[in-house]
Order: sequence, then structure tokens, then C-alpha cells
Amino acid sequence: MTDYKHRPTAGVAGQLSSLADPPLISSSRRPAAGKAPAEPAPTTPTDGPVAVYSAVSPGGGSKPRKPVRLPTLARMKRKGTRITAVTCYDATFARLVDDAHIDVVLVGDSLGNVIQGQESTLPVTLDDILYHCRSVRRGLRRAHLVADMPFMTYHSVDVALPNAARLMAEGGAHAVKLEGGADVAPTIARLVGCGIPVMAHIGLTPQSVHAMGGHKIQGRGFAARASLLADARAVEAAGAYAVVLEGIPARLAAEVTDALTIPTIGIGAGVGCDGQILVLYDMLGLNPEFTPKFLKRFAELGALTRAALSAYRTEVRSGDFPGQEHEYHDPKTDLDSLPLKAVP
Ligand code: KIV
Repeated sequence: MTDYKHRPTAGVAGQLSSLADPPLISSSRRPAAGKAPAEPAPTTPTDGPVAVYSAVSPGGGSKPRKPVRLPTLARMKRKGTRITAVTCYDATFARLVDDAHIDVVLVGDSLGNVIQGQESTLPVTLDDILYHCRSVRRGLRRAHLVADMPFMTYHSVDVALPNAARLMAEGGAHAVKLEGGADVAPTIARLVGCGIPVMAHIGLTPQSVHAMGGHKIQGRGFAARASLLADARAVEAAGAYAVVLEGIPARLAAEVTDALTIPTIGIGAGVGCDGQILVLYDMLGLNPEFTPKFLKRFAELGALTRAALSAYRTEVRSGDFPGQEHEYHDPKTDLDSLPLKAVP
């Protein structure tokens, strides 16, 4: 088994030059058999004040966007239209994600790593997910919102039901995601029976990092392949409407995708899945040190943020910021032209 590999980060110059042409959809991407070509990237509205956000069609039209629902995702699988998904943790990014017409937004327990700075996802609580889910919900109009069930919040059916219900009722999630295969099938069936849509998650399941002996690629070897296929079939039979395939060989992911009628959403699972998900902060380059093989950085916001902060520091120190254009004046007194000490 192989750990997620880290490769060296690009230098800052390389990072900034790649910003000139950030590919939303890689032009070199291999089309998978039976898959429809990618839609053109939507243009992003840029001028709406945050507090009065209203969803408009890309390009500025006022036609409201159709929300992504479970039948939308099922139809996308049938038609071979790839599903796009990212994680998200706050309202500001949620608006940007929605504006870009990403189909599925996951409030993932990866927030333990990228927001809280934890070593693993294990310390994340249901209240943490609820807090971020409510924030993300406020930023979304179109995307399908999935809330992750944290470690030990679904270890029995009786525990899972009230926790999943809170994510839906208080968090505003449209569905919940939980890790595990045949072992969690009874829980999935119970939640689905209560009207809670469940996205399953098999393969490399980060909540089992210690049981797996690290973040290791799963499903290698005949026994592990068979077990993963059995897990995929079990979660589908239990009523999951989609399944995340994480950290498994591309060929196995394609095989699972072919075997199931529900959509597969891959991360580190190759192009043969029905859709892809990435952790937002990783794909935007906000964690430049995290460089596993599966990850593509579509922007270098880490480098950009450092450069912006450094420019801010320089300008504050030099007095170049704030400039006159950033100042307020008092037209009622007309004191601006007088020296400071001239006013009693
Ligand atoms: O928590 C998370 O971000 C996830 C995705 C990586 C699928 O589970």
C-alpha cells in the first residue's frame, strides 16, 4: 500500500505565473468513454455586495438557476455528464462556488485539517459541522449541499438518526455523508427510510486513518478489490444515492462506476468516476505544502495571499495606505484645509 505522496511545491514565481491562465477545466483531460464533453465554464458575476447576494444566471441574466437535486444527479449519471463537487466551509466561498455552477458542495470533516489545523478529521464534532453547514447554506442557491457525519456520530443506527436529522433540520443540508461500506449499510438504510438522503464514502476513509495504518491507497490486490466492490454494492443496495470513492486504483473506480446505477464521485480515484470532488482549499492552492499525487491546484491563492499581505504591510509601514481615496471627509465643517492645531 502507498501513502498519499507529496511532491515538491512550485516556486512563488511559478505559482504566480500560473495565475495568468487558471484552467477551470483541464484542456488535456482524457474524455472517458460514454462521457459527455465538458460544459463551457460559466462567467462569474463580480459586482454584487456580499450582504445582498442574489443568484443570477451566469452572464448576468436574471433567470433563477434550477437547484441540483437527487434526480438531477441521477440524470447526470445516465447522460454521462460529469458531476462537479468541492468542499466548502463558509458563506463567502459558497457564493463563489455556486456562481461557478459547481453541482455538489460538501461541508466535509476535512475542515478539521484545513480550518482547524488538526492532524486528522477525528476531533471534528457535529456542532463544528453544523456551524459551517449553516454558513455555507446561506451562500448557496443552486448547489446540492451535503453535510459530513463526523467520527463516532453514526456508529450505531440509534446514534446516527438524531445526528443526521440535526444536520438536515438545523444545518440546512440536503443530504448527509458517512464513511464505510457493508458495515454501515443498516445505518444507511435506516436514514434513507426516514427521508434522509445518504452519500456513502468508501475506499480511503480518513476517519479510519489509524485502523488503515495511515492515508493509504485502498483496494489493491484481488481480495481488497473484491471487498471494495462488495462495499459499493452494499451501500447502493442500502439506498445511498451516491458514493464517494477515495484513494483507490483508477481501474477499480471505473469498474465500480460501471457496476453501480448511483453516481460515483472520485477523489484520488481517476477519471472513470461519474464526478470528482476536491477539498476547496487544496485545489485553490491555499495549502501549498499539501501535494499528494491526486491533487491538481487550479489556482495559487496561497502565494497570492502572501503577496497581498506583504504589499499591505509595506504600504501601511510607508504610509501609502490608506490613500486619500480611502478617506472620509466632513463637508459640514470644511476643516480639511486647516493645520491640525488650528482647530480649538
Ligand atoms: O471531508 C472531506 O472533505 C471529504 C472529501 C474529501 C470527500 O470527505
